[in-house]
Amino acid sequence: MLPIQVHPLDDTMLGAMEEVRSEQWNLLLPRLKSVPGSWRSDAKVFPPFFSRFLQHNWGLGAFLEGRFVGYLVYDMCDFQGDYCALCPVFGHGAVGKNRVAVYQALLQRASENWVRGGSVNHLMSFFWSDPQLQEVLYGLGFGLYMIDAFRGDCLLEGETFSTEVEIIPGTFEHLQVLKALGDAALEYSVQSPLFLLHHEENEGYYRRVLQDPEVGVFLARMEGKMVGFMMVCHVSCPEPATLCDTKTAALEPLGPFILPKFRNRGAGTLLLQACIRWARKKGLRSIHVDFESANTLCRPFWERFFQPALLTVRRHVNSDVLDVFSEPREA
Ligand SMILES: CC(C)(COP(=O)(O)OP(=O)(O)OC[C@H]1O[C@@H](n2cnc3c(N)ncnc32)[C@H](O)[C@@H]1OP(=O)(O)O)[C@@H](O)C(=O)NCCC(=O)NCCS
Repeated sequence: MLPIQVHPLDDTMLGAMEEVRSEQWNLLLPRLKSVPGSWRSDAKVFPPFFSRFLQHNWGLGAFLEGRFVGYLVYDMCDFQGDYCALCPVFGHGAVGKNRVAVYQALLQRASENWVRGGSVNHLMSFFWSDPQLQEVLYGLGFGLYMIDAFRGDCLLEGETFSTEVEIIPGTFEHLQVLKALGDAALEYSVQSPLFLLHHEENEGYYRRVLQDPEVGVFLARMEGKMVGFMMVCHVSCPEPATLCDTKTAALEPLGPFILPKFRNRGAGTLLLQACIRWARKKGLRSIHVDFESANTLCRPFWERFFQPALLTVRRHVNSDVLDVFSEPREA
């Protein structure tokens, strides 16, 4: 057993953390060509984020024979109805030949902190190009939950585009039909095994979406009926947790959704083409989408057109451990 020691971190270690993060990203990012390029160079972004976690004592460092060999910082917050510990992709790093042992030591201590802090739901994001860490996490009881994926701004080619689908840019004239389709999308999201619930949005919400110049709304018409929609928006500030930068278009805030009877007839593909055109017109170089791995309908669709970049895994540990460990939550 390696004598790896794990200690709480403070701000004096920010430089060492950034060195480990950047070494790890230099190894793993080159295989993810479609991830926005700004993350490859912008080293100043991360230390302020680390610092924010450390203010709450939500950070651990691993040391081997006095050398700093890895770190893990995390957030504790409510997420989709559960009090969760969340470790983003930039929130951990370990390099060198003992990487696996370092991650195991960090995660063991972090798990103890998470449970003591009142959380039995644990989420962690990491690069798709990191099967070594994936194996460590699966071994510790985590399972796949979300996938963040990117593609460049090139138009789809080589598809047999359906001629029975008409794509229509959304305007106020479509307010009612868009709301009806949005409500149907919410109904879909409560069906097992999907877990990322949205709330029902009112007409005002759709009105705002339709008038926002930073959001593109596209509807699909088939057999004379509006059958689905896709939305795309300009990401206004960099999001290190999803790797979107300000040159990214994201397929948000709602959808996409196609009525069941009209799926697998090419509407989704043509809507995606319209969203890519919208992004190109705005000069946005990459397009981002995230989806739950359990969404078996959409996963093959996205995987055809996008390259996975981040995997988020999730674990629920037995709640009875809370009776033994729990400390009052931080407000
Ligand atoms: C995901 C979704 C939007 C895709 O829309 P869609 O209109 O079915 O998409 P398409 O028809 O363009 O493509 C779907 C499949 O049909 C195939 N297809 C496309 N045109 C076709 C045609 N004319 N005839 C037969 N098959 C066709 C495609 O090759 C594709 O195959 P794949 O699943 O292996 O990639 C739709 O399934 C949906 O609404 N799902 C429920 C909501 C949801 O999951 N939203 C995503 C949340 S992240």
